[in-house]
Amino acid sequence: MTTSSDRDRRVLEIHERLVEIEQRLIPTGLHVFGQPSEGKERADLLRMIVSFDRPEAHARALPALVAEALGIDIPVASSINTEVTEKELAQREQVSAVIDGALRTFIASGSDRAITELRSTANVNPDDSRPIFALLEKISQQLETNVEIESLLRALRGEFIAPGPGADIVQNPAILPTGRNTHAINPYSVPSEVAFARAEVVANRLLDRYCDEHGRYPQAMALVLWGLDNIKTQGEGVAQALWLLGVRPVRDGLNRVTQVAPIPLAELKRPRIDVVMTVSGIFRDLFSPTVELLDTAVRLVAQLDEPAELNYVRRNVLEQMCADKTEFDDAAVRVFSNAPGNYGTNVNFMVLDSQWQSDNTLGDLFVTRKCFAYGRDSRGRRIEGQEARAAMDRALTRVEATYQNIDTFEIGITDVDHYFEYLGGISKAVEKRANARPAIYLSDSLSRDMKIRTLEETVQLETRAKTLNPKWYEGMLQHGFRGVAEIENHVSNTFGWSATADAVDDWIYTEVAETFLLDDEMLDRLRTLNPHSAHNLVSRLLEANGRGYWDTDPQMLERLREIAGELEDQLEGVA
Ligand code: BEZ
Ligand code: MG
Repeated sequence: MTTSSDRDRRVLEIHERLVEIEQRLIPTGLHVFGQPSEGKERADLLRMIVSFDRPEAHARALPALVAEALGIDIPVASSINTEVTEKELAQREQVSAVIDGALRTFIASGSDRAITELRSTANVNPDDSRPIFALLEKISQQLETNVEIESLLRALRGEFIAPGPGADIVQNPAILPTGRNTHAINPYSVPSEVAFARAEVVANRLLDRYCDEHGRYPQAMALVLWGLDNIKTQGEGVAQALWLLGVRPVRDGLNRVTQVAPIPLAELKRPRIDVVMTVSGIFRDLFSPTVELLDTAVRLVAQLDEPAELNYVRRNVLEQMCADKTEFDDAAVRVFSNAPGNYGTNVNFMVLDSQWQSDNTLGDLFVTRKCFAYGRDSRGRRIEGQEARAAMDRALTRVEATYQNIDTFEIGITDVDHYFEYLGGISKAVEKRANARPAIYLSDSLSRDMKIRTLEETVQLETRAKTLNPKWYEGMLQHGFRGVAEIENHVSNTFGWSATADAVDDWIYTEVAETFLLDDEMLDRLRTLNPHSAHNLVSRLLEANGRGYWDTDPQMLERLREIAGELEDQLEGVA
């Protein structure tokens, strides 16, 4: 029986979900080269920027400042099982309303007015709010100007282009103005101290979530590490891997991270987790010293004289040496990438071209592309892309959870095909080798509360926030032909999560069909703007049904087949 308190809790949960979707920053439309961002988009970005502490500008996050001034203690939500009370929700909304008001005033009338308003509405001391508004003023001006075309022309003339850091705009607004020559970072600075500190929180939440769902720690995890992400975050993904292993980076006399040191078990208070790392080709190229650091960390942990139940790396390596009669160097391989000079998994191409029959093909392709070991052997000899298929197969047999750190507001797991090719690809490879589908997690390390979500939750959130959100698709449709292609891309990338991880609920495909194809007016718009993508969209839905990823009623399928036929006729007429 449902009690009224159950009902209240459910209502609060739904409220939380809606706020989560509402507050997700989504790109409304594509970036048009050379054009500055506009009103609402700029306001959303500024709001996101002020929600983080900005130590570089001596500025504190606005939500914290406002809550403090109002005497409200807003708890940081943890990943799961957070019971948000009605009072807390009301307080969050109060803080949110104050900030919205202040930002509207800032945009309309400038900093001074906004600072005064914050003093009168929430009693925020102007000395405290001034630094964040000074930063906002600078960012706002930079967002209003755009020198991308000018810079491109300069580049074509072979002239100098000012350098600028590569990062996520919310994470590091110093990337502005755009149109500069993006530079990376010194790999020896990775992970930065900030990245290591942030990673502790995320790694703990990841393990807490797994433990809550499975009653124990995972004996091994598979992590995906990308190059650009680790540039943007100064190595947050790398730091998470180190935390899972239970080691900390050690800096040498030149302040370079060249070694790691074990965190004592008494301090760690949990087992060291075995991690299998797949790094992208870009990561391998940009972060060669970091690849070595990760490999060193695994080897160091495997050799610690610690009880097997508190050091899963050691336990697994010793077990394998004994069972397979192999050497330590073979049993301790954990860092994999493409063969030298090669990039990508090709899993995305195989899925999008519908070129696979058996599920296992996708996971096998992942391993074929990514089974090249990197690091140094026990005698200090470099291993640079040595084929190690058996070692990778073996390491994946033990994996119980897969994970990737998401650190950007701009690109989510259905925006591009790379997330499903990597995280989906490795999960599929694990499924066959471990004889069980792993738990699949993603972090949202940029959100204020650094959440961990399951893949299914992330697909649902992305679908609600983007693909099925009129704000998002209308923004895309303003771009005509390209916009329809983007909608179709999102649906195909969502399909990629069915193919690699069976992580897409029926309602997602059903609502996609209802929104874009079964609504006559919308279908007309799509087929007028871009009949090719409209046809691909309907074909993808029919494929989802044909491959068993989407269960729906025969009438809907019949109508979709008719639409596919009509679009084919239209395309033939066009040709
Ligand atoms: C990377 O930064 O490593 C990366 C970028 C795009 C796709 C895959 C990997
Ligand atoms: Mg299903």
